[in-house]
Amino acid sequence: MKIAMGSDHAGLELKNYIKEYLEKKGFEITDCGTYTSSSCNYPEFGEKVAKCVASGEAEKGVLVCGTGVGISIAANKVKGIRAVVCSEPYSAEMAVRHNNANIVSFGARVIGPATAETIVDAFFGASYEGERHEKRVQMIIDIENE
Ligand code: RB5
Repeated sequence: MKIAMGSDHAGLELKNYIKEYLEKKGFEITDCGTYTSSSCNYPEFGEKVAKCVASGEAEKGVLVCGTGVGISIAANKVKGIRAVVCSEPYSAEMAVRHNNANIVSFGARVIGPATAETIVDAFFGASYEGERHEKRVQMIIDIENE
């Protein structure tokens, strides 16, 4: 599976850690930056990753900023994106199973690498269930299309 990843300066270290973790598991990663610890703006990287996912260039995305919040808000402005901030694995799993989430976002100032591993395992190990959830996800898409 192809995954696009991005972070701001606050999320750089955790992004690099997760990138290595996912590569070891066989995922193909496109790193959209940032690549240095210089201060930068999280919306730029939220948008880049979101556009990779929305265009189909990557199947899913991983974002990291200080809280995971700002970068996911930016990503969610791109049509077709359902980005979720997660600090524990249960929400990550259910976000895929019920909400067909396509980007998971972390706060590097909120969680550590060990928790991030459990979250990505839950996120990438889950599959969208469709059926009764389809109508609800479609309602979200309808709002986006208004
Ligand atoms: C950067 O200091 C911080 O504001 C950013 O990483 C993020 O937490 C925003 O939501």
